[in-house]
Amino acid sequence: MPEPTVYLNGHYVNIADAKVSILDRGLLFGEAIYEVVRVHKGRLFRLDEHYRRMCCGLKAIRIRPPFTPRGYARIFEELTARNGVRCGYIYMQVTRGAAPERDHRLPQTPSPTVFAWARQTPMPGWVRFPNGVATVSVPDPRWQRCDIKTTMLLANTLAKQHAADAGAFEAIFVAEDGTVREGSSTSVFAVLNGVLRTHPANHRILPSITRTLVLEAAREAGIGHREEAFSYEEMLDAAEVFLASTTCDVCPIATIDGHKIGKGVPGPMTKKLLRLFAKKLG
Ligand code: PDD
Repeated sequence: MPEPTVYLNGHYVNIADAKVSILDRGLLFGEAIYEVVRVHKGRLFRLDEHYRRMCCGLKAIRIRPPFTPRGYARIFEELTARNGVRCGYIYMQVTRGAAPERDHRLPQTPSPTVFAWARQTPMPGWVRFPNGVATVSVPDPRWQRCDIKTTMLLANTLAKQHAADAGAFEAIFVAEDGTVREGSSTSVFAVLNGVLRTHPANHRILPSITRTLVLEAAREAGIGHREEAFSYEEMLDAAEVFLASTTCDVCPIATIDGHKIGKGVPGPMTKKLLRLFAKKLG
């Protein structure tokens, strides 16, 4: 396998040659926004939506977006072509860049670091999880701006490792009041009384592109759906629960904390949405 070509600050270089300063504020303070964009059959999926979300995140942490929509798209297109990606993802990260000193105050003349990296995967998520996955629940210790796609992911990485230690695929964040929020790197949907439900897109969760897509598919297919939070108990009793994200698509859940969901196999609504989702991918 040849070494991947990555993008760093205007240059396409071998990954081993991509270097950033130890004073980069992404490294020192976690001041960075990222995106993960799907490549399907060599095409970038919903790039405009990723661009808009990234710009919202950058503005929220006071970084001026360092590209135009066209410049942004060109980086993704170049990386896809240069690395010959047919099925996979492009990761992009923008940090506030390096400043002369480690100072909590923001630099007067910031110079953002833009980094992007292509990753080939053997097959799309919807093929990888035919029988559903095991999940666990964890308390949600995160801050009040989970809508910002920042690289400050400590709570998420520890939650994911907690799941992995338990032999599970994903950890689901549950708030102190018992409300189900989202997975450590996924959105969560449940089928309750025949209605598709998911947490509203507010400051408590990431405005997931795949979540929007699932809701769009449900609307088009006339499937009853509501963006309304549900409790941990409701989730355990749900007929179906599934995860949604760029990297796992629509992924059925077989168990939560060892408790079987429905019959413990992908249910009819999940399967239908999976089909609709695959169609949208093209
Ligand atoms: N994670 N919720 C969280 C906390 C996430 O980190 C993600 C994505 C999602 C799903 O968002 P989308 O549909 O836009 O991929 C929901 C990415 C894939 C990651 O961190 O690798």
